[in-house]
Amino acid sequence: MPPYAFFQNQFVPLSKAKIGIMTHAFHYGTACFEGIRGNWNPQEEQIYLFRCPEHYQRLLNSCKLLNIGLPCSIDELCQLTIELVQKSGYQEDVYIRPLAYKSSEALGVKLHDLEDAFLIMVTTFGPYLDATKGIKCSISSWRRIDDNMIPPRGKITGLYVNNALAKTEAIENGFDEAIMLTSDGHVSEGTGENIFLVIDGQLVTPSCYDRILMGITRDTVIQLARDELGIETLERHVDRSELYLAEECFLTGTAAHITPVLEIDRRKVGEGTIGKLTRELQKLYFDVECGKNKKYLHWCTPAYAKMVRA
Ligand SMILES: Cc1ncc(COP(=O)(O)O)c(C=O)c1O
Repeated sequence: MPPYAFFQNQFVPLSKAKIGIMTHAFHYGTACFEGIRGNWNPQEEQIYLFRCPEHYQRLLNSCKLLNIGLPCSIDELCQLTIELVQKSGYQEDVYIRPLAYKSSEALGVKLHDLEDAFLIMVTTFGPYLDATKGIKCSISSWRRIDDNMIPPRGKITGLYVNNALAKTEAIENGFDEAIMLTSDGHVSEGTGENIFLVIDGQLVTPSCYDRILMGITRDTVIQLARDELGIETLERHVDRSELYLAEECFLTGTAAHITPVLEIDRRKVGEGTIGKLTRELQKLYFDVECGKNKKYLHWCTPAYAKMVRA
């Protein structure tokens, strides 16, 4: 089965989903998107879409910021996503990319008086960062963009140039990922992940006013830590030097899952190994996102009708 896309209100083979070179979003970054994981559960022969309605709620918020109208409800968007995964027929982990964009073939820097369009594509997707071994990060020389420049709480395509500059700088300097600071020097986030620290046994993460995307994995970790481990998360400003002194550090994201950070700016975090709390959260999160922990099945939308083994 070829991979399909939902494009111009119908399901078409991915290879047939093309946009014109004058499309507004292509020139000016006037689009917003989501990343949703579909996690393959081999025992149940099922793909579970993780927190699908929450991703579409965030997409609708991003659309609001960009004056993009989406004529679909969250339920309809989830249903389209299910159909797309079914049509593509994958039996492995997938990554779903909904994207709403200014589709007019017109030049001119603006958000008004333009047509809007929406598409969804799905692709296979392996590990994004090495969550098994852990990674090395650097503090980026690129500052996180401010809310009154391009709001980082929206997943806006044009904004991701900020992230791409930071990511490439980190990779070219021999690190795996960048940690960005806000213009006033507080810790913000990774280029596609939120960041958590363990300080005096407590979880600490930058808050919504630190120019972060309000991550769905971040929210999942906060809930799992509280409800399963009895650990509250402090959402507050985080100073750069706290990164160097933390007992543990990890990144969270749909793509990155929970990725332990073992070094920052060539300084070891804690012992320079994966911390105890990070490991516990990784295990909990993995079982929850694959639909293995039945208590959290309400976060998992099955893509396939139940399969019966032959
Ligand atoms: C900049 C940024 N921060 C954080 C995240 C993590 O968000 P989520 O956990 O919802 O994937 C992402 C990924 O979407 C991101 O692009």
